[in-house]
Formats: sequence, structure tokens, C-alpha cells
Amino acid sequence: MNILLVHAHPERTSVTHQLAGISSEVLKGQGHEVVQSDLYAMGWKAVFDEQDFPSRANRDRLSFIEESGHAFANGGQTADVEEEQRKLLAADAVILHFPLWWFSMPAIMKGWVDRVWAYGLAYGYRGAGNAHRYGEGGFAGKRALLAVAVGGPEIDYSPRGINGPLEQLLFPITHGTLFFPGMQVLPTFAVYGAAGLDDRGMAEASAAWRGRLDRLFEDAPIAFRPQNGGDYPDRHVLADHVAPGRTGLAAHIAEAGESRRVRPGD
Ligand SMILES: Cc1cc2nc3c(=O)[nH]c(=O)nc-3n(C[C@H](O)[C@H](O)[C@H](O)COP(=O)(O)O)c2cc1C
Repeated sequence: MNILLVHAHPERTSVTHQLAGISSEVLKGQGHEVVQSDLYAMGWKAVFDEQDFPSRANRDRLSFIEESGHAFANGGQTADVEEEQRKLLAADAVILHFPLWWFSMPAIMKGWVDRVWAYGLAYGYRGAGNAHRYGEGGFAGKRALLAVAVGGPEIDYSPRGINGPLEQLLFPITHGTLFFPGMQVLPTFAVYGAAGLDDRGMAEASAAWRGRLDRLFEDAPIAFRPQNGGDYPDRHVLADHVAPGRTGLAAHIAEAGESRRVRPGD
């Protein structure tokens, strides 16, 4: 299998860097092809701006969606963006390694998404607007996994913890960014208390991470509901009979044992 490791930390001794190193070692050891995007080492341009569109569709007004679609369709993207898309499209699995900064990914990684997730590929797939999203699209068939170094203690991220549950905080990444263009997203791997981890803590985290890597192609993905699987008849809102009475983020994840309505012909 081909695996893309994307990581966002400039310090080699950081938890993030150490876990990325383990990923490379373990996955290569299993015979996989491992490709890396070490964003700080690459000097990745984080800001999405007019420099991303050397040949503009419209010189009067900068519309990011229009220019992204135009550049993607006409071979007008910058070389760094093209290279990352090539790596992504070749990957069977993508692992994002990052420290939790303000309950999200560092700006350099957000900028990697902003610039690489082109219109026509990651959204507006095949020029069909939102016809293909959430479970299908340009990155369908790939697995994705977040490996996050979290400064705070696990209790702060527990079901009633003060920060909110980590998997809910990361929903815009797992659901909105990775599942949107079609990836199957595995439950997040987190190392809590990462800011002050001692050798023993790092050894425990490393062992747990090795276990997750061993099961990369076996673990069940988060049961996000696909747009076109029948739960969203108008492609916008859950049908009344699906997760009745439930609202908010959790309603978009099928519960274990939930009876799935099968579409005629499936
Ligand atoms: C800009 C910044 C924002 C941070 N935001 C959070 C946060 O939202 N929640 C948290 O638990 N820790 C936060 N931290 C602490 C980091 O998550 C912590 O330093 C990191 O996980 C340590 O891992 P590393 O060795 O990979 O850097 C933040 C740190 C920085 C520098």
C-alpha cells in the first residue's frame, strides 16, 4: 500500500515528530511505500492567496473557488500544490500528524488543506456542485487518520470535560475536511499531556501508536453518514426517521446497531 504522512512540527524531539518517525519505521517495515510531507522542512506556503493562481480566469476580482477550479482544470496550479495532489491521489492511506493548537491543526497544515483541496477535486467534484460529497468524491477509497499531540490532560477532553470531547472538537477536520471528499476516517489517535511527557509516557504512547499502525487497514472507520446513502433524501438534512430527535454533530454518525434503510436496488 502507499501511505502519505503529513506532519506539522519543526522540532525533531517533539511528540509529533517522534510519532511521525515511528509511522515511517513501522509502515516501511510492513512493506508499505511511505511518502512524507514534512511541512515545516518543506517551507510549505501556508497562506492561500493570489500567488496560487498565476494564470487568472478573472483579473478583476479574486474568487478563490472560481480560480481554484480554473487552475485545476487547466493545469494552472502551482508546482507545490500539484505535487501534494499527486502524493494524495497515489495514497491508500493518509496520516496527519500534528500538535493540537487552539483545538485544531497548526496554520501550516490548515494552509496545506486550503491550497491542495482544489475545486473540481476535493469539492465541486467533476463540476457537479455538491452531488458528490461526504463519503464520495476525489479522495474516495482512501483511509485517513489523525495522530494528535494534545497538551492538556485527557480528563479535560472527557465526555463532560471542560474543553469538550476531542473527537467532537476535531469534527471539522475528520468530517468536514477528510470525509467530505470521500475518505474513510479512522478514530483519532491522541497523546494527552504531550507538553510534559516523560520517557515512560512517551514509551507508552509509542506502543499504543504502533498498535494503531498495525491495524491501519483493519480498524473500522468512524460511521459518518454518506450524503448519498439514503439518510439525507434532499442531500441537505437528515430524514425524520434517521436519528429521531438527535441534533448537532453526533447525529451525523450512525450509532452501533442502528438499522440502516437500504435503498431499493442496493
Ligand atoms: C499555539 C499553541 C496552541 C495550543 N493550543 C492547545 C489547545 O488548544 N489544547 C491543548 O490541549 N494544548 C494546546 N497547546 C499545547 C500543545 O498541544 C502541546 O504543546 C503539544 O501537544 C506538545 O506536543 P509536541 O511535542 O508535538 O509539540 C497549544 C500550544 C501552542 C504552542
